[in-house]
Amino acid sequence: MKFQGSENYVATQDLMLAVNASITLKRPLLVKGEPGTGKTMLAEEVAQTLGMPLLQWHIKSTTKAQQGLYEYDAVSRLRDSQMADVDGGERVKNIHNYIVKGVLWQAFTSEQPVALLIDEIDKADIEFPNDLLRELDRMEFYCYETRELIKARNRPLVFITSNNEKELPDAFLRRCFFHYIKFPDADTMKKIVDVHFPTLKSELLTAAMKTFYDVRNLPGLKKKPSTSELLDWLKLLVAEDIPLEALQSADNKVSVPPLVGALLKNEQDVTLFEKLVFMNQRNR
Ligand SMILES: Nc1ncnc2c1ncn2[C@@H]1O[C@H](COP(=O)(O)OP(=O)(O)O)[C@@H](O)[C@H]1O
Ligand SMILES: [Mg+2]
Repeated sequence: MKFQGSENYVATQDLMLAVNASITLKRPLLVKGEPGTGKTMLAEEVAQTLGMPLLQWHIKSTTKAQQGLYEYDAVSRLRDSQMADVDGGERVKNIHNYIVKGVLWQAFTSEQPVALLIDEIDKADIEFPNDLLRELDRMEFYCYETRELIKARNRPLVFITSNNEKELPDAFLRRCFFHYIKFPDADTMKKIVDVHFPTLKSELLTAAMKTFYDVRNLPGLKKKPSTSELLDWLKLLVAEDIPLEALQSADNKVSVPPLVGALLKNEQDVTLFEKLVFMNQRNR
């Protein structure tokens, strides 16, 4: 079982190494990186190339660890008990009917090995990672309501992603294999764009990439545009049939690119960029 990248996903050598290391160690792979650097897609692609179903758990600020294990739906049970004619009251007697299985339960009891994605773990409160330590370590947990131990038949391949909004606890980090997806350099980015737009004219791509990295390297930006924003922008440039000249001025000076709203997402950043263009033009 080895991951070697895929047709739809450009994986650098060190990323492939990290994926395979976590498979070998049987530890969760913790993937960090700026939003839009392909963390979620990595889990999807690895699962697909290894032929495993992927169970996804998208974390929100209100998500609790227990929801990944199971929840006991006491309200439905009470309601059913008040309308005793449901199945002649049979349903109410069996507590299993009111246990809502979470992703970890599903992953642990699946017949075939599965991949499990815990996406954007840094969205939850600080207790969340700690609350999952034991379950991810031992690959088992106890359901008190039904008095059963849920134990993994096959160890799932676990991916955990983080956008770095919060620090994760040390005890949690110790149990993971860690990889930081660096922002792609120009070569890697060309390959990524190529996957999405195989027929894009190379002059347009070169000009667009230059503008993109110029914008990205602007000091003081609040939110740097990422891979997915570059892809959105290219899609628009193609759809709107923007000519090459609109992207590059003859003297190679910076200008405000067309459809800049795909790249810069707040007014301060747009203003900053316009100021820079203005200063550039005065210095001619
Ligand atoms: N290495 C890559 N190869 C191919 N496409 C990529 C790559 N990295 C990012 N993308 C594109 O960027 C989009 C955003 O990726 P995503 O996995 O959602 O980022 P993240 O989860 O890190 O925020 C993807 O849908 C994909 O189109
Ligand atoms: Mg994501």
